Amino acid sequence: MSDPKTVKLVDESSHRGSELPLVSGTLGPACIDIGTLYKDTGHFTYDPGYGSTASTKSAITYIDGDQGVLLYRGYPIEQLAEKSSFLEVAYLLLNGELPKQDEFSAFEHDITHHTMMHEAQKNFFQGFHHDAHPMAMLAAAVASLSAFYHENLDVDDPADRKMAAIRLIAKMPTIAAACYRYTIGWPVRYPRNNLDYVTRFLHMMFEVPSEPLQMNPVAAKALDLLFILHADHEQNASTSTVRLVGSTGANPYASIAAGITALWGPAHGGANEAVLKQLEEIGTPDNVEKAVLRAKDKNDSFRLMGFGHRVYKNFDPRAKIIREMCHKVLDELGVNDPLLDVAMKLEEAALKDDYFVERKLYPNVDFYSGIIYKALGIPAEMFTVMFAIARTAGWIAHWIEQHETPGSRIGRPRQVYTGADVRDYLPTGKR
Ligand code: CMC
Repeated sequence: MSDPKTVKLVDESSHRGSELPLVSGTLGPACIDIGTLYKDTGHFTYDPGYGSTASTKSAITYIDGDQGVLLYRGYPIEQLAEKSSFLEVAYLLLNGELPKQDEFSAFEHDITHHTMMHEAQKNFFQGFHHDAHPMAMLAAAVASLSAFYHENLDVDDPADRKMAAIRLIAKMPTIAAACYRYTIGWPVRYPRNNLDYVTRFLHMMFEVPSEPLQMNPVAAKALDLLFILHADHEQNASTSTVRLVGSTGANPYASIAAGITALWGPAHGGANEAVLKQLEEIGTPDNVEKAVLRAKDKNDSFRLMGFGHRVYKNFDPRAKIIREMCHKVLDELGVNDPLLDVAMKLEEAALKDDYFVERKLYPNVDFYSGIIYKALGIPAEMFTVMFAIARTAGWIAHWIEQHETPGSRIGRPRQVYTGADVRDYLPTGKR
């Protein structure tokens, strides 16, 4: 018997029904296309948090949360992590194929030659308070790019879209490093284009005008790997935000700035900063049991940061790679961080606890990344900024895909209204 190609939904009270087609992709479960449901039955669907809703078709990234699978354009994340580089992955996400040598050279050349910030943009930073959070500065600075490049903002022009992708991927590290340096009172460092993408960023972060920077190549290798792992993740909250803003026809910089603010929340990209703070609060492995008890207490809003994922219910394949890398990087850099002991004890305690096992709560990508960033000398406030640099490749790939898809419509969900029934306005004295 062949698989059914439609699903029938009947409203027993009104006897109105709808025969809804199933939409299948290359991998993953088929989806019920509910496009005609309201017309046929007079009902909307209700799915807060979108646990059962596919918002779009996409050919960029595939996740199987039960099997712990993550593919970028079909390539397993484990293979890309071992063999590729962030810039090559960015090309792959944008173009759908791994680049040939000449294609990669041209892409690298384009990225390298758009790394500078407009001189006037540097002045923006002076307007922030000295202790502004770098994510606040990053979102504002990226939104402001639309004020500098308005001659290339035709969202219907493929050349303009490509230019926006190049500019965003190229300038994000420059802007990010400037955010950091402003908060510590250092002068902005210009990008050195003889360096590779990640090494250039580390120089912009840490090099002072008075002396050359000695850098361990392990640091650049580790950061490149973290960027690969964070580059895209299907229709997560920030990518969905980019697409929703993009669906209105908003320009790419405005769309990506919205993604940055969505990423900032502790349930999403802000978790990496929150994990480190939580590990510091726990302090020593002896306090781990208490933290686990608090996380299980329904009267306490405390959650174990870096645990759980909406989609991964087996393990997060990125966390597996990062865990291994964390030990290696700390060894190679000669860093002895007691927080790693706290993290390992926490992981062990949670993984054998029924509460976490039953709810399938495993360490996610952010659980170990903060410890690595810390070992590289990156301050906690910058952790989510690191995530944003990497995710820019994914966000802009999705934004472009959205604009290349014929028939795309503005994103406009409906609601279940729970407010007052219709009533008449009363003059002040009669209320
Ligand atoms: N600690 C303790 N309990 C948890 C946790 C946690 N970290 N995460 C989920 N739970 C419990 C939750 O209380 C609920 O229990 P019950 O069924 O008894 O009410 C159950 O597990 C399901 O949780 P949920 O909130 O319905 O799950 P969700 O899919 O809506 O949320 C999540 C996913 C990632 C937001 C959540 O697990 C969480 O808040 N984790 C901590 C923050 C974090 O690490 N976020 C980074 C995610 S990975 C990187 C990224 O996406 O940017």
